[in-house]
Amino acid sequence: MTIRSVLSLLLALAFLAMPVTVSAQNNSEAPGGASDFTLKSKGLEDILKRQKALKEDPQQYGAVPSRPDIPINTLQTGSISDIYRAARSGTNGEVRVSARGPATDVMIQTTGMEWLSLRAGPLRTWGGYLLVATVVLLAVFYLVRGKMRISSGRSGTTIERFNATERFFHWLMAGSFILLAITGLVTLFGRVAIIPLLGKAAYAPIAGYSKFVHDYVSWVFMVSLAVVFLMWVVANIPNKLDWIWIKQGGGFFSKDSHPPAKKFNAGQKIVFWSVILFGTTISVSGLSLLFPFELPLFAKTFGVLNTVGFGLPTDLSPQAEMQLAQIWHAAAGFILMAIIIGHIYIGTLGMEGAAEAMTKGEVDLNWAREHHSEWVKEGTHEVHPHDQPNATPAE
Ligand code: HEM
Repeated sequence: MTIRSVLSLLLALAFLAMPVTVSAQNNSEAPGGASDFTLKSKGLEDILKRQKALKEDPQQYGAVPSRPDIPINTLQTGSISDIYRAARSGTNGEVRVSARGPATDVMIQTTGMEWLSLRAGPLRTWGGYLLVATVVLLAVFYLVRGKMRISSGRSGTTIERFNATERFFHWLMAGSFILLAITGLVTLFGRVAIIPLLGKAAYAPIAGYSKFVHDYVSWVFMVSLAVVFLMWVVANIPNKLDWIWIKQGGGFFSKDSHPPAKKFNAGQKIVFWSVILFGTTISVSGLSLLFPFELPLFAKTFGVLNTVGFGLPTDLSPQAEMQLAQIWHAAAGFILMAIIIGHIYIGTLGMEGAAEAMTKGEVDLNWAREHHSEWVKEGTHEVHPHDQPNATPAE
């Protein structure tokens, strides 16, 4: 062996031993110490099983010691599985990417698996059950109770209930919410409900249009929600009549009970405040989804909740923020959809004479006396006597 070849060999060895330019920052504080273990199986289910099991009994999956010295570099001088293990467990390394953004340098986001399983599992299942259960309960209630009639029959005289502006914004909010609900459900259930029925080729444009409608109609909902709040907030401030209404079950369970109420009764106030609160939280989380990574909501909120004893994580990656926003947005959406199904039932099938309030703007005087006696007594609303064309005898 010549001196020259010995020197080349030494040089080559020196290169291999050189510190790498991009070194792993092992995240040994990752929840569950995920960085310490080898990925032994493929597939979502296996990965999830493994993630859960790690927290319970890490040893069974063949724990290997943490290796902060494992380099992550483009030359791949380290073991590829070590590199992936480090990346998957939240090791950031000094990752350089040409795209700039808050989430671009996270190579593998492990909590994404938890989100995926939550979205494809409990969120869809329980959300779906909630909507189906609401419809079933209302159907049973309808079969048992029947339509709530105007006990004293129609008088044939009407009283103005909602003016044109009130009706316009009610329908703007209602129409936009219904579109958002349908397109939201298409997005969440499309893969499991529409693809098996219509096929992937048909679902692709449906999904595309759904997203488009959902993104743009959301603005109409947000504006109408704000206007409805301003329009009706004063009439929805709770008062002592609400308690009487609640104690009498709103008159829903007995034919001749008509608890007193002003413009809105306690049931309607519950609907109003639900729409405002859920509508607002859906809108805010929706904005966070609409402008990815620009409006992180959860780390700060969790921080505030932790001051009163919650032990929630506050060190959330940009992706985790988005995932939480998506789950929250959909869960709140499901709850509001269930409430609105109940509202639509009462406004149509469930109660005689209610729908006219929002279609014509006028209701029968006897209906108004039975459901909003104190409001009628205010005497500030226009009454229109008719030639009794609608009058019906009391039941
Ligand atoms: C086809 C669907 C709908 C129908 C038939 C309907 C019907 C009605 C009727 C008749 C009223 C007036 C009740 C009265 O005279 O006291 C009303 C009020 C109201 N609606 Fe709707 N509505 C629908 C959808 C919606 C949607 C989607 C929302 C919200 C996202 C909504 C929110 C409200 C609110 C906050 C009130 C005032 C409180 C109350 O009366 O419960 N409505 N609606």
